[in-house]
Amino acid sequence: MKKILIIGASGFLGSKIFAYLKSQVDYSVNGTYHKNKLFDELEKFDQTDIKEVKRLMAEEYDIIIHTAGIVNSLFCEKHAELAENIHVGGIKNICRYLPKTSKLVYFSSDYVFDGKKTDGYDEDSIKHPLNVYGMCKSMAEDVVLESDRNLVIRVPLIYGFNKWNNKYMNKFSRKELRIQSNIRTNPIFINDIFENILDLIQYSGIIHLGGPEVITKEQLYSRTARLFKLPSKLIEDDKASKIKVNKPINSIVLSTRHRLKLRLISEAFDIMQRQKRAAE
Ligand SMILES: NC(=O)c1ccc[n+]([C@@H]2O[C@H](COP(=O)([O-])OP(=O)(O)OC[C@H]3O[C@@H](n4cnc5c(N)ncnc54)[C@H](OP(=O)(O)O)[C@@H]3O)[C@@H](O)[C@H]2O)c1
Repeated sequence: MKKILIIGASGFLGSKIFAYLKSQVDYSVNGTYHKNKLFDELEKFDQTDIKEVKRLMAEEYDIIIHTAGIVNSLFCEKHAELAENIHVGGIKNICRYLPKTSKLVYFSSDYVFDGKKTDGYDEDSIKHPLNVYGMCKSMAEDVVLESDRNLVIRVPLIYGFNKWNNKYMNKFSRKELRIQSNIRTNPIFINDIFENILDLIQYSGIIHLGGPEVITKEQLYSRTARLFKLPSKLIEDDKASKIKVNKPINSIVLSTRHRLKLRLISEAFDIMQRQKRAAE
């Protein structure tokens, strides 16, 4: 039986991948958390702690799916050294002790690009990150890709409903939600990631997974708030913080490698409505 580990199984994406893989009988699945013990069976783990990394890597997993990090570009901009230590230092630690027989699958971001190309970026596009978060993700990717068997999956904004960690929907519980309205993206529905994970992990190198529609972030957020009757009012992000984070305006990732059929936003919203009703 194949042994799979999810690093970051308490996160928005990691928890969904963890729960999905647990439901697949052919795999033995473990997961880690850092501060938030979302499921009883998760193991505490800090990727910046070399002793913890060495111990975890000694378990010799066949596949390690990595969804951990500080996924907040403003926080990373304000705490660049800490961000680099967690994102890049953490991945260096993991790769240092990664058994030769293990494959590392690293989730990365559209933020490795500068967003100047209006028609999007494919797997061969040249990276040029604009902010600390993007730079950290790019440097971590380079470390992961030092081994040919490893995989980097780049995703743009992830949306969806998650009854354990509802990070996307919870944004809308705030009275005001600040966004940069001119950002265009092809957001990916979270179900399209975890439901395809067993196909995706067969690849190595870089693979892009973005949704089939390009939309502004403002349009996506307005549709979400309206449909789910969430209280947030959307406010332009220009005065939000003294520290300005440069963000790619065209956050669009395209793939020349896979032909997965991914859901339209309207299809995803139907599923999210059903999931929300079931959780109430
Ligand atoms: N969300 C998006 O829209 C989006 C877009 C593009 C790319 N991505 C990428 O997709 C991946 C998952 O994103 P997400 O939104 O699911 O993230 P998330 O909800 O913020 O989850 C991050 C995970 O990392 C763990 N973690 C934090 N610091 C750690 C450390 N020092 N050692 C080990 N684990 C640590 C957290 O543990 P605790 O919570 O237990 O502390 C949590 O499980 C990330 O690689 C991100 O860069 C996300």
